[in-house]
Amino acid sequence: MAEINLLDCLPATTRDPKARAAAKTPEDRAVAKRFDRDFFDGERRHGYGGYRYDGRWLPVARRFVEHYGLGPNARILDVGAAKGFLMYDFLQVLPAATVRGIDVSAYARDHAHGGLAPLIDIGSADKLPYPDKSFDLVLSINSIHNLPLPGCKQALREIERVSRAHKFVTVDAWRTEEEHQRLLDWILTAETYMSVDDWHRLFAEVGYTGDCWWFIP
Ligand SMILES: C[S@@+](CC[C@H](N)C(=O)[O-])C[C@H]1O[C@@H](n2cnc3c(N)ncnc32)[C@H](O)[C@@H]1O
Repeated sequence: MAEINLLDCLPATTRDPKARAAAKTPEDRAVAKRFDRDFFDGERRHGYGGYRYDGRWLPVARRFVEHYGLGPNARILDVGAAKGFLMYDFLQVLPAATVRGIDVSAYARDHAHGGLAPLIDIGSADKLPYPDKSFDLVLSINSIHNLPLPGCKQALREIERVSRAHKFVTVDAWRTEEEHQRLLDWILTAETYMSVDDWHRLFAEVGYTGDCWWFIP
């Protein structure tokens, strides 16, 4: 497995963790964790503050395809697919690919970009409804850390199980105490977050052999 930032072509996002820490309430967190309209398209204090397609995932899709050498008929699964933006962009790069997504949010699926709702299943990362080794690439960006630790571990096992080749996850993490504090200040929905070293220990414990990167606000 490798630590690799395959998201390095995303535009930089300005975040103010201190301001969020000062403002967020337990109620804000509870609202965000419903992953419904409030989280995606409601106020910023409840999540994205407007989750709209703007093409930013297209270079990311290209990067994945090149890095993993995915062929035209590749099978790709996005766990925590939300409104399917990255799925849509995979299909721009590989129009003959089989692209599937899964997410707990019916709101996100019902508002999927580009008519992709039929390709998005409603379900949880810790119980993937797909056969063993059925995808060439399984990826999950900023999603499995929303499960409590036992579910997060199971999600990693599931990602490992349904992939026959490549796996990639991005999770909330820190390398320094300053980054740890910024993450605590920023977090709205995550249940499982830890240092980079502890994530590596967890990956080994559950037998996750894929690649990883970190969300550090
Ligand atoms: C921060 S968003 C990330 C969305 C997308 N991957 C991206 O990077 O833009 C987290 C996503 O995980 C989904 N999610 C939360 N818990 C989940 C679970 N247990 N299984 C699958 N998806 C989940 C949410 O509905 C939401 O779409």
